[in-house]
Amino acid sequence: MTKLTWLSHGGWMIDSDDHRLLIDPFLTDNPAALTSADQLKNIDHILISHGHFDHVADAASIANANNATVVAIHEIAEWFAKTQDVESIVGMNIGGRLELPWGTVKMTPALHSSQLPDGSYGGEPAGFLLTIDGTSIYFACDTALFSDMKLYAANVDIAVLPIGDLFTMGIDDSIAATKLINAKKVLPAHYGTWPPIAQDANHWADRVRNETDAEPVVLEVGESIVL
Ligand code: NI
Ligand code: MN
Repeated sequence: MTKLTWLSHGGWMIDSDDHRLLIDPFLTDNPAALTSADQLKNIDHILISHGHFDHVADAASIANANNATVVAIHEIAEWFAKTQDVESIVGMNIGGRLELPWGTVKMTPALHSSQLPDGSYGGEPAGFLLTIDGTSIYFACDTALFSDMKLYAANVDIAVLPIGDLFTMGIDDSIAATKLINAKKVLPAHYGTWPPIAQDANHWADRVRNETDAEPVVLEVGESIVL
């Protein structure tokens, strides 16, 4: 059984039978988070999409407390090793695929920016396409709408799309993205954390139902779906 849990904002936890991974954990100084970084245990891998603080904030402390491996684009992986004392890293790059004990991860493009909190160069921003037990999950992560999404994520079982607007695509473009990739299920992310990215997720879900073939799944913070 594989379970996907929303940690709020762009943060996700995936539990499969023997493994637990995180994507973009942001808990400290996150007004929407219900969990603290030290409550997350038994983490094997942490995937980081890009260098902004709301995606890297808690990764080093969780990696160091759990002996977890940080997986990120080369420049960010090196930054974790050199400046955050993270011992286990895997650097990859856009378009590359990595086999891990729980499945595969492909790093996909994202249309965004990526500077690390200390001003270091973070390489290119990314998304992730995961395949776990035959289920495909596309995490668009922080991105604008772009047509190449359909080259990477067409017909995915689950798409996780930002809807918060201002820093990423908003609701209109998330509807367009859902149509473009023809996802079976779509989950909203990167909204509600602070007032500038507040969104009505039920309104978004109505639009997904009315305008696309996908099934919308709105999770509360801390809630999970079984894949
Ligand atoms: Ni960002
Ligand atoms: Mn962000």
